[in-house]
Amino acid sequence: MGADSEPILRAEDVHRRFGGVHALRGAELAVYPGEVHGLTGENGSGKSTLLKILSGQLQPDAGRIRLGGDVTVFRSARDGMRSGVVTVSQETTLAPDLSVAENIFLGHRMSRRSGVIDWAATRRRAEVALARLGLDLDPRLAVRRLRPDQAQMVEIARALSMEARVLILDEPTSSLTDDAVSLLFDSVKRACEDGVATIFVSHRLNEIFTLCDRVTTLRDGLTVGTGPVDSYDRDSLVSLMVGGTLESAVHDMHEPGSEHVVLRARRLSLPGAFSEVDLEVRSGEIVGLAGLVGAGRTELLESLFGLHRPEGTVELDSEPRLHRSPREAIRDGIALVPADRKRQGLVLGRSFGENLLMASQSQAFRLKPPRRKRELVTIEAATKQLQIRAASPDVAAGTLSGGNQQKVLLGKWLETKPRLLMLDEPTRGVDVGAKAEIYNLLFDARSRGIGILVSSSETPELLTLCDTIAVMFRGRVVASLPRAEADEATIARLAGGHR
Ligand SMILES: Nc1ncnc2c1ncn2[C@@H]1O[C@H](COP(=O)(O)OP(=O)(O)OP(=O)(O)O)[C@@H](O)[C@H]1O
Ligand SMILES: [Mg+2]
Repeated sequence: MGADSEPILRAEDVHRRFGGVHALRGAELAVYPGEVHGLTGENGSGKSTLLKILSGQLQPDAGRIRLGGDVTVFRSARDGMRSGVVTVSQETTLAPDLSVAENIFLGHRMSRRSGVIDWAATRRRAEVALARLGLDLDPRLAVRRLRPDQAQMVEIARALSMEARVLILDEPTSSLTDDAVSLLFDSVKRACEDGVATIFVSHRLNEIFTLCDRVTTLRDGLTVGTGPVDSYDRDSLVSLMVGGTLESAVHDMHEPGSEHVVLRARRLSLPGAFSEVDLEVRSGEIVGLAGLVGAGRTELLESLFGLHRPEGTVELDSEPRLHRSPREAIRDGIALVPADRKRQGLVLGRSFGENLLMASQSQAFRLKPPRRKRELVTIEAATKQLQIRAASPDVAAGTLSGGNQQKVLLGKWLETKPRLLMLDEPTRGVDVGAKAEIYNLLFDARSRGIGILVSSSETPELLTLCDTIAVMFRGRVVASLPRAEADEATIARLAGGHR
């Protein structure tokens, strides 16, 4: 690695438009054999577009790609793969009905002499590939039956098994547990020792600093910086990305919450998930749920949204309520913004305008293009308020950047005019700039008297947002801290089961 060797893959002055959106306007990137190269930038800055061009999934309007010094044209992803450029993209490409083993070796199945597939060998090879990532999975299992984090690891196992020269990982960690992330990092480092170049995208800056040797930053489709990761710290990298600092972008104009209790849960229990939970959310208050993965936070939110049948009592505006379905919960003014926006939150193939109206228009989630004037006015107003950046409300939700998708999802639920707004990991896969915008939207909702309950694995996020933080450990709320008494160390200690 370094200036003395040739880049293995290089993008020079790359331009690309999508209709009216100028996604890339002269992007540059050079990766060297054996290095992990971080690619950072706000949502919509063009990272995925550049990586799709480098791997052949998209063609540039102008500019050059060089592979080992020679100008190259990849006409398709398959073309790129044949030259050793392998991608794990933000969108899953696994075939849901095929098994784990079949997916891993799709396209490079091992055959016997006759061309017949050797299933026993395929399965054994899959087991090895999975074990390398510390995955204890039956390779015969259909991919459809995997959790999102498991499916993500299978995609990574497939990419690693292809003997890539350049491995492109576009936000591989956003749905992974901490353990899975560290196994992934070990595998990436091993691949690099063998001379593989890796391009790594993550919105978690600590991952960039832990894993990467060098980092390139895009802003508005343009490369604004590239250099050794040691030459940056958090602040300098963030200001390069946003052209300013995060603190200056968050405006918390907090007025104290009212005494009016929107939600009161008493001795709420769901066997196997949480037990004896007492919780209160006031009008105009943001309550945080802290805790490790598996502490019961998601199940608690889902139960309050009518997805499970917990024992205990729930009062909404002092009236007893136990919702037996999300439909009942929505009718009562409860909203849940789920963690997995790709699977549960948005209909990615539909326009974002339709997505915005989906929860508020009728109980039976409607799916038809918005036509009436009133609907179009609503969409326009929401787009403006949420600062969604897209060419038009007709573009498919799936083509928006992560931060914009998350804002559409939040907007969809705000349109239902909830009295209790619940959010699970509200900024997963969202960059610092969009994060600040989402925080501001939540502060704004709070000032309108909405009660807000936010579950997050990121303690700094809870400390920025919340008035009160409830800490869960193994299904129990072990502490409820006013913001003034909460800090990272205290929360970490309580979440780990210590007093
Ligand atoms: N197929 C498409 N059609 C229309 N616009 C697109 C398409 N793909 C990307 N865009 C637009 O191009 C811009 C760059 O998007 P891109 O996905 O490359 O950003 P990104 O840096 O990967 O963002 P994120 O961090 O959210 O993944 C965005 O404005 C996006 O809406
Ligand atoms: Mg992207």
